Amino acid sequence: MLRTDPARVRILGIESSCDETGVALVEASADGTPTVVAQALHSQVELHREYGGVVPELASRDHIARVLPLLNEVLAQASITPGDIDRIAYTRGPGLAGALLVGAGVACALGAALDRPVVGIHHLEGHLLSPFLGGEAPPAFPFIALLVSGGHTQLMEVSEVGQYALLGESIDDAAGEAFDKTAKLLGLGYPGGPALAVLAERGDASRFSLPRPLLHSGDLNFSFAGLKTAVMTTLARLGPSATEQDRADMAASAQAAIVDVLARKSLAALRQAKSDRLVVAGGVAANGMLRHTLAEMSSAHRFSLHVAPPRLCTDNGAMIAMAGAMRWQRGLDASEGPSRAFDVRPRWPLGAP
Ligand code: KG4
Ligand code: ZN
Repeated sequence: MLRTDPARVRILGIESSCDETGVALVEASADGTPTVVAQALHSQVELHREYGGVVPELASRDHIARVLPLLNEVLAQASITPGDIDRIAYTRGPGLAGALLVGAGVACALGAALDRPVVGIHHLEGHLLSPFLGGEAPPAFPFIALLVSGGHTQLMEVSEVGQYALLGESIDDAAGEAFDKTAKLLGLGYPGGPALAVLAERGDASRFSLPRPLLHSGDLNFSFAGLKTAVMTTLARLGPSATEQDRADMAASAQAAIVDVLARKSLAALRQAKSDRLVVAGGVAANGMLRHTLAEMSSAHRFSLHVAPPRLCTDNGAMIAMAGAMRWQRGLDASEGPSRAFDVRPRWPLGAP
């Protein structure tokens, strides 16, 4: 039996797909936008920095160490006990298998102990519902979503929660990967995206002309692998005498190339789908230049832009709890019993059953 009024439900969210451990609590009524009551997050950036990227085994171990303290922090923030939780949502995939299993294990153990339903959430669904986490007005359905993370770059037509049609995607590197790889070539540490954005602030974006592949391809696909090669050859041409200003100009030029393609393809997707609502989600949505460019485009081309505050664009538990809450509101997760399935899907296309 649910202890609280079933018209108002508390959903716990657990995220552990990569290098952030996130736990959050969201409250939802039958309708209306659910509200975030408490959230706690631990980033593993420092742990992986010396390796220049995420080390899966270290990530799993750190999730194990962090997840219960974060859960206790969330319970304390919300002034509740575990028994007050009505449903548990966790990231089922895609992501690192060992890392996902930590969140799945905790969620299923809690569900079994408390006799509460447990639901596995698609990580990208969490991202694309992040504009509902607060800040500005959430979008109405349907909308177009630009999903830009470390592993994915996709344009989706979102008719409703759970109804996603892929309009286009990267045929090689993701946008976040393009940021990270360019940053590495410039000698910037991990994670490269935010560091590249900072360096780019001091640079001249018109200094180097970098490729914008597939910009005029007529479809909504992306390609970012060539950018890395172009940056590499340009840096080689500059040689060891490259100055700090050269590096800043390269960072600004690379950022401009990525942002330009993302923005123009998003506009093309809105036109193709005859939509006037754009959601931008995923870690790269934290990028100031992308946000600024899309904001200008939204007033020039009269569409509404919905993007979460930067700290909620990268991985967090609140987006998983929110996805769990919005699925519950729509009766999408039929199972009412505690799940002991303990399952994860490291590779899982959004929209696939
Ligand atoms: O969504 P996310 O936190 O994790 C994945 O699901 O992949 O996205 C991480 C990606 C990384 O590639 C990171 O470099 C990029 O988002 N990122 C940024 C910024 N903040 C994070 N890229 C550009 N500018 C930023 N400010
Ligand atoms: Zn993510």
